Amino acid sequence: MARQHPAPTDHEIELDPAKYIVSKTDDKGRITYANEYFTQVCGYSERELLGAPHSIIRHPDMPKAVFFLLWEHIQNGKNISAVVKNLTKNGDYYWVVTDFEIRYYPDSDEIYEYIAFRHFVPKKVRKEVEKLYARMLELEKADGMDASVAYLNAFLEKQGMDYNAFIDHLAKPKGLAAKLFGRMKKMFD
Ligand SMILES: Cc1cc2nc3c(=O)[nH]c(=O)nc-3n(C[C@H](O)[C@H](O)[C@H](O)COP(=O)(O)O)c2cc1C
Repeated sequence: MARQHPAPTDHEIELDPAKYIVSKTDDKGRITYANEYFTQVCGYSERELLGAPHSIIRHPDMPKAVFFLLWEHIQNGKNISAVVKNLTKNGDYYWVVTDFEIRYYPDSDEIYEYIAFRHFVPKKVRKEVEKLYARMLELEKADGMDASVAYLNAFLEKQGMDYNAFIDHLAKPKGLAAKLFGRMKKMFD
């Protein structure tokens, strides 16, 4: 039976800029690990998360095109910095910027897991991305995903960047925050 998603509320959860939400999934996107901050923020227990598809926290305000882009990158072994609005168990929401690590079977090019590292997004960035995603979602509802992909491509062309560069430019941790992020990622080596 399809999982019932909670009705979204207007309440935003403010993330702690010093903490990271970390999860691992198998090659299909089923959750195999969730750190404690993930369970705290999304409201699901570790037991509820393990084995569930990552879409358990999918927010209806997110355009499909962003996930299409995300999977297109990671399935081809390429990292992507994606800004995502997520839905908690009680319908609240939180914004994150996500970075991926892709793991392969030894001596193979077959992927066995993905690790997602997520971090707080400044309000200014959220506002900018929110406007872009709202327009993409409108187009998706009216004309399907191709229309929103075309809109995103035209938007990025105007900025002179691809999606990754656009998000890095807006939201990627810089300076000391970037150093701390690097150190935290190493803990999962
Ligand atoms: C490692 C990893 C982390 C992901 N994190 C999220 C996430 O935080 N929020 C989300 O909505 N989808 C996330 N996804 C994408 C989901 O797998 C899925 O594509 C998305 O929720 C859209 O679901 P749908 O295709 O069923 O509509 C992640 C996927 C992977 C592989």
